[in-house]
Amino acid sequence: MKDPAQFIETAVRRLRADIPGTAIVAASGGVDSTTAAVLSQRALGDRARAVFVDTGLLRQGEVEKVSELFRTAQLSFRVVDASDRFFASLDGIAEPEEKRRRIGATFIRVFEGEAAEFQTDRLVQGTIAPDWIESGGSIRDTIKTHHNVGGIPPDSKLTVVEPLRDLYKDEVRQVARALGIPEPDRQPFPGPGLAVRVGGVVTRDRVRRARVANAIVEEEIERAAAEGLLRRPWQFFAVLLPIHTVGVQGDNRVRGEAVSVRAVDSVDAMTATASDLPRVVLSRISERVTRALHGEVVRVLYDVTDKPPATIEWE
Ligand code: XMP
Repeated sequence: MKDPAQFIETAVRRLRADIPGTAIVAASGGVDSTTAAVLSQRALGDRARAVFVDTGLLRQGEVEKVSELFRTAQLSFRVVDASDRFFASLDGIAEPEEKRRRIGATFIRVFEGEAAEFQTDRLVQGTIAPDWIESGGSIRDTIKTHHNVGGIPPDSKLTVVEPLRDLYKDEVRQVARALGIPEPDRQPFPGPGLAVRVGGVVTRDRVRRARVANAIVEEEIERAAAEGLLRRPWQFFAVLLPIHTVGVQGDNRVRGEAVSVRAVDSVDAMTATASDLPRVVLSRISERVTRALHGEVVRVLYDVTDKPPATIEWE
């Protein structure tokens, strides 16, 4: 992008034209939606309200971290706890696309409620180019239904406004930096949250395991980067796999679950290279995950696949 300031000016002008009254902004705390929220506030002032949905599928400490980020960015926002609705909608569902569809639909229902409350029909989203391209916007196969574009039911009264639709991730980061948004380089986190990092059915217990493993992978990789053992990858996380495997506890063989470690480098998320994590860091992760989830997770694997042929997330 040549001139982020020019983009900001045009985006603000367009938002004012598209939104005559009030609007809510779907804000996850990620760079994309935070940028969309700050642009909306610039354009509309008090007529914009950011809505952060606690899906129950978030990372450890995320509600507090995002609230703090929004306060620093001086956004007017509301946190909505909708975790019961999300878990109910996912009950018994293992198929990845069906999970995404249900999460997308639940998001929309929650936003419809919030929009009615704020007396608007406009929903601003931080959708960026890879979201709609990979959801089948310009190619034939749907690689994944990214929730930002997958979930609008035909009967919804919401009109979606997408100020970042034509940008790629690195361009959004430039705009975020120009807007003074804190930590524009923090790693991406998918809208459907830990549900796409839990292979198979999504239960509160399995999400808890994925949350613990994700926190450990993040901590250990941040620590190793601070120690100079590696260059901080673009994105890094853990996935709870949809298999049971055998481990040993004392003298007994036990059945437990398995976790895979994923770390990638990328510029725009369209392609990615699996990071070469040092063995010592992988050992620390394996040791901590199996200790923190004693008897629940008995095996830790390392994913070395690039995108393509894999995607970055497992689902
Ligand atoms: P994939 O797994 O498709 O992911 O290679 C590319 C990048 O997008 C993130 N991702 C999402 N972001 N909504 C989002 O806002 C989603 O539904 C979604 N799914 C994946 C993923 O973490 C990676 O950075």
